[in-house]
Amino acid sequence: MSEPEDLTPDAELAEAEADPEATRIVDPAAVAADLADPEAVAEVVAPHRDIATGEGEKLLEVSGLSVEFGGLAALDDVTFDIKRGEILGLIGPNGAGKTTCFNAITGVYRPSAGTVRFDGAPLGRIKQHKITRLGIARTFQNVRLWGEMTALENVCVGTDARHKTSVFGGIFRTPRHYREEHDAVDRGMALLEFVGIAPRAAEKASNLPYGDQRRLEIARALATEPKLLCLDEPAAGFNPSEKTALMGLIQKIREDGYTVLLIEHDMRLVMGVTDRIVVLEFGRKIAEGTPSEIRDNPAVIAAYLGVPDDDTA
Ligand SMILES: Nc1ncnc2c1ncn2[C@@H]1O[C@H](COP(=O)(O)OP(=O)(O)O)[C@@H](O)[C@H]1O
Ligand SMILES: [Mg+2]
Repeated sequence: MSEPEDLTPDAELAEAEADPEATRIVDPAAVAADLADPEAVAEVVAPHRDIATGEGEKLLEVSGLSVEFGGLAALDDVTFDIKRGEILGLIGPNGAGKTTCFNAITGVYRPSAGTVRFDGAPLGRIKQHKITRLGIARTFQNVRLWGEMTALENVCVGTDARHKTSVFGGIFRTPRHYREEHDAVDRGMALLEFVGIAPRAAEKASNLPYGDQRRLEIARALATEPKLLCLDEPAAGFNPSEKTALMGLIQKIREDGYTVLLIEHDMRLVMGVTDRIVVLEFGRKIAEGTPSEIRDNPAVIAAYLGVPDDDTA
């Protein structure tokens, strides 16, 4: 199947790639945070922002969402919600519409019908680059990092995006902003430690092993302190033990105060980590429930039996 995520990079991000020196003076050795203390690290990483939605209430409400490509329905009248503090799994065979659903929520695609409410307000027609500021961060099915920047620089850019009107206002260059720079680096290092790759802070992202790149992408998304973290097949290309470790990280992220939407086509993988699961097939929601309800659902079993083994492994 072709990969339909052909997105135009944000202009600011393209600028960053063109000018890596803008953040090159970040020095991992200058970090004050106590990386040896997991609780201190988790405290730094936790979201420090106002969220209108109360714990356990609906943070994201998707209703009647449809997306068409050339007259074909890739997503057909899909309705579900995500409660603050939960891990919601969005699963389904390849081509079911999972990534399309993400893209419609995050403004990449314009839905042909339906509405999305987020943290008490309608999302309407948002521009893709505004979505981070609204509090939704995502990772991509295919890893996207700024390869020429170090791991630490990649996350510091995310931290900056949360606080600045311009991502690259040159905060690493002017002495006036020394304090902010220091905060960004401390937080960046805490994020790298949290996802398990702090020792690689000074390495170029493109030189990291694949699994570490995936972790770095998650750290960068967390750097924006999202109200909702969306992960699109974060375990793609992982072996079983790497997958298990990643599911542990996702649970840790939730325990730290984040709400997570987890896309995954491997049904077994999400069973142990999610609170609820929404199942898509051919663009439609065919089931919704707790992992044990989904496991025994005949429609879900049938949907997955129609897929070759190597797609569900
Ligand atoms: N940009 C696009 N243009 C045309 N068809 C697309 C596009 N994006 C997705 N599709 C089609 O929509 C359907 C759902 O795709 P996708 O959301 O990527 O599925 P999943 O993520 O569940 O594997 C597929 O048939 C896919 O080919
Ligand atoms: Mg997909």
